[in-house]
Order: sequence, then C-alpha cells, then structure tokens
Amino acid sequence: MDADLIKLVNKLQDTFANLGGELDMPQLAVVGSQSAGKSSVLETIVGRDFLPRGQGIVTRRPLVLQLIHTPVPEDGSSSQTYTEWGQFLHIDKRFTDFDEIRKEIEQETFRVAGQNKGISKLPIHLRIYSPNVLDLTLVDLPGLTKIPVGDQPSDIERQIRSLVIEYITKPNCVILAVSPANVDLANSESLKLARSVDPQGRRTIGVLTKLDLMDAGTNALDILTGRIYPLKLGFIGVVNRSQQDINSNKNMNEALENETEFFRNHPAYRNIAHKNGTKYLARTLNQVLMNHIRDKLPDMKARLNTLMGQAQQELNSFGDAAIYGDANQQGALILRLMTQFARDFVSSIEGTSLDIS
Ligand code: GDP
Ligand code: NA
Ligand code: MG
Repeated sequence: MDADLIKLVNKLQDTFANLGGELDMPQLAVVGSQSAGKSSVLETIVGRDFLPRGQGIVTRRPLVLQLIHTPVPEDGSSSQTYTEWGQFLHIDKRFTDFDEIRKEIEQETFRVAGQNKGISKLPIHLRIYSPNVLDLTLVDLPGLTKIPVGDQPSDIERQIRSLVIEYITKPNCVILAVSPANVDLANSESLKLARSVDPQGRRTIGVLTKLDLMDAGTNALDILTGRIYPLKLGFIGVVNRSQQDINSNKNMNEALENETEFFRNHPAYRNIAHKNGTKYLARTLNQVLMNHIRDKLPDMKARLNTLMGQAQQELNSFGDAAIYGDANQQGALILRLMTQFARDFVSSIEGTSLDIS
C-alpha cells in the first residue's frame, strides 16, 4: 500500500489514541459466487501468499483479517520474516511462515466446518502484523452458491446470503463485488447482493476476474468502461493466478508482471490498461480510504478544537499561583504542551492535501 497514506493514517491514529479516541477505518469485504476469485483478489491486495484458494468451495468460514501496521525496527537489521507475522485468535502462536498460516486456516476450517463442504458462520480471526500495511480489516467470505453439495444443508443458498449480508450491510463496509468475466454479468450474484445493501453503488467496487478465460473473440470492454452497469467507483479488471499457476507455485511478483503484460498487449484493453489490474485496484482502494479520512476531518478538527479550548481554560485557572508550587507548575506545563500539540496537529491537517480525486 501507498507509503504516504500509511504514514498519514498512522499519524492520525496516534493522535486520536493520545486523545482517548479512535479513528475508525472502513472494513473491506469480498462478495461473489463460488470460485469467482475472491480469495485470490484479497491475497494480492495484502501482497502475501497465505490464503487457501482453489476450485470448488474452499473458503467455508468467514476470515476476518486484521492488518496491523508495525514500524520497521530502527536498526534496520530485521528481515521481512521477522517484521511480518500472523497471529490467530484461536491459537497462541506467532506465525512467521505464511505457508503455515494457510495450513492453519485450512485446519481450523476443517475443525469447525467439517471435512465435507459444510460452511460455518463462525469467523476465523487472523491478524497480520507488517510495516507494509495500513490498519485495516478485510473480510474473506464463502462464495454464493445455489445447489447444496456434500454436507451442505438444503437451504445453503439462503444461509450464505444472510452470512454475507451481515458483513456488507454496515455502512462502513467497502464492498468488493467480484464477478468472473467468463460468466454473463446479468447473472452476477455479487452485484445483486451489493445493490441490495448499497442501492446507489457508492461503496461498491466492481472487480472483474478471469479476463484471461473469456471466449476467444469476446471481451469485457463495455463492462470495464462502465457502459453496462453503473457503479460510482467503477469496475476494475484483474487477472489472478490460474489453478495451474497455483499448482506450480507461481509467485506473486511474476503473476503481477504477467497481469500487466496481459492488459498492455490485449487489443481490446490496451487503451484502458492503466485503469485495470491489481495494482490499480490497490490504488483505488487507497483513494477510497483517503476520501473516507477526508470526510472525517471536519469532525476530528471539531474535537481537537474543543480539547484546546478546555486546556486553555484550565491553564488560565492556574493563574499566577502556577509559578509557585512545583506540582502546579508541572500541570501547567503539560497543559501548555498539549495545547501546542493540538494546535500543531490542526495546522498539519490543514496543510495536508487529501484531495487526490
Ligand atoms: P473464491 O472461491 O472466490 O475465493 O476463488 P479463489 O480465489 O479460490 O479462485 C478459484 C479458482 O479460480 C482458483 O483455481 C484460481 O486459480 C482461479 N482463478 C481466480 N481468478 C482467476 C483469474 O483471474 N484467471 C484464472 N485463469 N484463474 C483464476
Ligand atoms: Na474457490
Ligand atoms: Mg475463497
């Protein structure tokens, strides 16, 4: 994610923590039919390989993934392995090997949702600590499906639907509505569901996967340019790793390079290549977060101003007596510093250009 955004958000979060408050950042949830590529998309947003992906129903419990920014150690000595790690809620262990994180998700899925395609509403909670992320919560969800298989109950469709709606109804949730490009968009379950909770399409980003798997002679240009389905935040096409890529352990950087090539070389997408792909999706998410913060700024400033007013009043009430007693003197000094801090902060916000749209 964008380094400047990470810096800004951390500064805001620290300030609010100091004032006893909290900067609430949006949650991001992926919605789509089974095997649409939801887990693949989330994984590339985080930039690490750690989610179970594959044909059929793989994600069978919600995964609430909390990204937590940790600063790089000052001495710069630590390798990525030691500065990035995962921690589950259900097990007291620090995972530095991301393949092991994937295995733990699989085992924990089996443990609660059974061996045979059953799903469970009970979320798996995973925290990823890294210097390369923003404090943000991403939610991976089971895919929408129609026909029960294995241990699934006869009302599986309704169950998954209500599970997904539980997450995406929150006004603070940004919905990544994933649709595979090799299925007619008119049948997109993700868009139908997203529209039911976000009718104006204000917090829904359309993600079109599997562009590489479309029938020869067809393309998704009309969808990607917004001529088919209106969404304020638009549609972004991506090409994730295929099952064969997964089987042969193709790494993420190589996959991203291939994706870039795909858009650049494709006759239909060449002209819109810069507005598609996983990197562009990540940039768009950054912008959505920036806009969210910008919307919150007036409220933050109001709270800071109130605090400054209170501090000033208390400072005045000390009067001349403040300079005599030691304890009082310290109190006044702290208040003065706090006032100065709040004032600096307000001017630093005013000097920050958040309007990047
Ligand atoms: P989910 O069920 O929606 O979470 O989908 P997954 O991320 O597990 O992907 C399902 C299958 O589709 C996997 O075998 C992926 O390799 C494959 N897949 C996902 N996205 C793409 C894509 O853009 N192109 C190709 N060729 N395969 C994809
Ligand atoms: Na799948
Ligand atoms: Mg999945």
